[in-house]
Amino acid sequence: MCGIIAYTGQRQCKDLLYQGLRKLEYRGYDSAGLSVLSDGRIELVRAVGNLDSLEQELRGDGCTGASLGLGHTRWATHGRPSTENAHPHLDCDGKISIVLNGIIENYQELRASLKAEGHEFTSETDAEVVAHLVEKFYEGDLVAAVRKSISEISGHFAFCVIHKDHGGLIVGARKECPLLIGVGKGENFIASAIPAFLSETRDVMVLGDDEMVVVTPDGVQILDLELQPLDREVTRVSWDAEAAEKGGYETFMRKEIYEQPGALADTLAGRLPDEGGVVLEELTISAEDLAKIDKVYLVACGTSYHAGLVGRYVLENWARVAVELDVASEFRYRDPVLSPSTLVVGISQSGETADTLVAMRQARSLGAKVLAITNIMGSQATRDADGVLYTRAGLEIGVAATKTHVAQIAAIQLLALYLAQIRNTLPADEIDAIARELRSVPELMRGYLDNEATAHEIAKRYYQQPFFLYLGRGVGLPVCLEGALKLKEISYIPTEAYAAGEMKHGPIALLDQGSPVVVVANDGHVYEKVVSNIEEVRARDASVIAVATEGNEGIRTLSEDVMYIPRTSEMLSPLLSVVPLQLLAYYIAQLKGCNVDQPRNLAKTVTVE
Ligand code: G6P
Repeated sequence: MCGIIAYTGQRQCKDLLYQGLRKLEYRGYDSAGLSVLSDGRIELVRAVGNLDSLEQELRGDGCTGASLGLGHTRWATHGRPSTENAHPHLDCDGKISIVLNGIIENYQELRASLKAEGHEFTSETDAEVVAHLVEKFYEGDLVAAVRKSISEISGHFAFCVIHKDHGGLIVGARKECPLLIGVGKGENFIASAIPAFLSETRDVMVLGDDEMVVVTPDGVQILDLELQPLDREVTRVSWDAEAAEKGGYETFMRKEIYEQPGALADTLAGRLPDEGGVVLEELTISAEDLAKIDKVYLVACGTSYHAGLVGRYVLENWARVAVELDVASEFRYRDPVLSPSTLVVGISQSGETADTLVAMRQARSLGAKVLAITNIMGSQATRDADGVLYTRAGLEIGVAATKTHVAQIAAIQLLALYLAQIRNTLPADEIDAIARELRSVPELMRGYLDNEATAHEIAKRYYQQPFFLYLGRGVGLPVCLEGALKLKEISYIPTEAYAAGEMKHGPIALLDQGSPVVVVANDGHVYEKVVSNIEEVRARDASVIAVATEGNEGIRTLSEDVMYIPRTSEMLSPLLSVVPLQLLAYYIAQLKGCNVDQPRNLAKTVTVE
């Protein structure tokens, strides 16, 4: 969703800010803007639509020479996308400029009282109140004014402020929304996500909740809300700037699909040692505590939820533990039965999804142990959890998650094997056999991707179809749900994903001559039942596109098209069977001319509830 980039240093910042915004595009937005301090006054440039519109506005603009500025991409929440509602916002006199991510929940009261005091508002946004609050409290000290403003506002937010009389100074603050400092030499950056400054520096400081940061070209000072200085380590991120580039691929999504073998191998690395067993070193919840767990509750949103669905099968099968699962936005409004022997696992690529974070906090307050599975070091989820299991998929830019999804599945498989080890629910030799097989999957996936040719051909035949049905059973069902989500997200074709056995209770009514039905039909204990469902589909003259296990020639006679994946044991098959469905969705969207990396209305990271 919204993105922030701020710069202070010696260089002209207009382009740096603009390039930073380009790197934040993947998060989703509908307007954008910059404000810079130029010749002692704040200049503001904003535009509705994508960054090309902003670029047009910036052409010929006099912001050159400025070396302090703010940039923002806005995903509309309060107020429609418009130039007035785009950030940055200014105070009444145009001396103060702010950019904000998140939501100021009490903005209506604040706006009313500021208006009564004579402040004039120019937008419908909640964010603008912050510019006016800072103006109200400003008495020569910007840090003090920001501090006072924070005590007036409630909600979750991250914002940055500049003032025309404080050249070189940016003051930032955060509550629950990410804000990171990119530490340079004689220059510094603040951003809501690392890619915004990754081409300039890999040295990063993470701002914590209820903290402020005072940044100048030569210094970074983190403060608590008593304005006491706090120590903070500088971490060097391993992602290089290339991670935020397409590297020869036409889209980020395609690049990320092809990076999946590496993402998987990195997520497994060191955790399944050759000498046997499962080692999850950074999991700070003790083995003793985990041994006492009698229920695992998985909470997540979107694609992460589908990884959780796969997790349910492996946790039940290997660790013999009761598993519950819910989308985070529902979990939080239920009355979940949790206890200290419940392990709640929040799965979130970004570690910043608002609903997942609230669910994790709620679980913790109810006494459960909370584990975060996330791809982002230092993200909010890591702070809201008792323990963390990182996926190591690297930076993912495509809004539709791919490589982080397979890494999440692998992480849950690791957790399930680890619990099986602690709880003695699988003999050691069986754990080692599964571990060996798991270690072989990245290579199998690489071989598959190198030789993959059918998905594109199938896409060409079906891309004009108005509807796709996806069917699966057992671990094939979450794969279908994910495949159907991918297709609808990036091609806008309506899809339905159903438990194959349930088809007769509804979706079968949708089938007609030639309707495409994607069936995950890998070898396994439900294969025969899936074949029966395929027969039911064929009896309605619909067209079956099967995902099947290499070597299964019989399925060719039952399906119009088959996408074969390498053979694995059933519980590992989702790692591979999701890949052809990602590719099918990808090619269909490409053929329809859709923007696969930034589908309409979607955001990479959903920081509002
Ligand atoms: C958005 C993204 C999805 C993602 C979901 C959950 O909808 O577009 O790709 O699966 O949020 O995000 P998270 O970061 O919590 O995994």
